[in-house]
Amino acid sequence: MPDDSLHVNHIGSTPTRRLAPDAEGIAQAARLLADGRLVAFPTETVYGLGADATDGAAVAAIYAAKERPRFNPLIAHLPDLAAARREGAFGPEALRLAEAFWPGPLTLVVPLAATARVSDLARAGLDSVAIRVPASPLAHALLTQVGRPVAAPSANRSGRVSPTAADHVLGDLDGRIAAVLDGGPCPVGVESTIVACLDGAPRLLRPGGVPREAIEAVLGRALLAPEAADAAPRAPGLLASHYAPRAAVRLDAAAIRPDEAALLFGDAQPPGLERARLSFNLSPRGDLAEAASNLFSALRRLDASGAATIAVTPIPRHGLGEAIADRLARAAAPR
Ligand code: TXA
Ligand code: MG
Repeated sequence: MPDDSLHVNHIGSTPTRRLAPDAEGIAQAARLLADGRLVAFPTETVYGLGADATDGAAVAAIYAAKERPRFNPLIAHLPDLAAARREGAFGPEALRLAEAFWPGPLTLVVPLAATARVSDLARAGLDSVAIRVPASPLAHALLTQVGRPVAAPSANRSGRVSPTAADHVLGDLDGRIAAVLDGGPCPVGVESTIVACLDGAPRLLRPGGVPREAIEAVLGRALLAPEAADAAPRAPGLLASHYAPRAAVRLDAAAIRPDEAALLFGDAQPPGLERARLSFNLSPRGDLAEAASNLFSALRRLDASGAATIAVTPIPRHGLGEAIADRLARAAAPR
């Protein structure tokens, strides 16, 4: 049961409070953020580690809590399009995407507006800003009360699997942040799709919760790939070995080897399954949205089995399958 109970702190000096998803919990979370403290909160994709985006010192604390090796630009979260337009300059295509998909799991990278308050540090010095209007009602209520843009990367320690429940957040960050607003599990389960609308045609910087096909249908044209030259500076968070469980990850497994953990999809019944240490089916009925929502908690569960390797059976690549394939490829990358 989510409540106000204190969590025993084993690392830092301040216990992390678990706040209930009610008016009092939201008000406390908003006060802490306005005071420059770190508060994890649920969105429909994953839990974010929030800080006042206008306060450079608060933003710097995010990197310390996450043990992020360097300053990557962060996403500024806002309650609605009107607030978003004070931070970013929306051209016609960015506006069409915002109107079609906000609130929802889409992040738009646009030029910085003259009226922007997002700090230099939150943007890692870039003259563009990544903006998202989340659909989660709790996130919306919190952002409305804070009244400032909230910078929030996923609320995990750097390089670990993204959190889709308050317990995942506490497992990684207990004692390092002021509070977590407990809104239960995140329904989408993979991070937002990131599209850059800067110069020329929109570019897909990261596949995510809104499928590429839906975005291309609204634009009436194909999304470009990130430019090779600026894939690094524009999406530095997209390191190859992101989203990594402790176990090794073996993709497109046709069979399960003894003592592996097995991550399945649909009606997969690979040979050797009976010898798996533990198995989990992301969606027995073959639904990619259900699979995305289960992905990160399944990786955590299989990892906790102690298996040295997680074997993953093939998953289709269309729709949300593109984001699932992207996260699994990062989990499997050498590290
Ligand atoms: O679903 C999500 O997007 C979650 C929830 C909490 O909103 N947030 C999230 O944040 O995934 P994070 O920090 O893990 O990923 C942000 C990505 C990074 O890859 C970063 O490099 C990119 O956004 N980014 C931020 N600002 C950018 C900018 N101005 N230009 C290009 N990429 C940017
Ligand atoms: Mg992340």
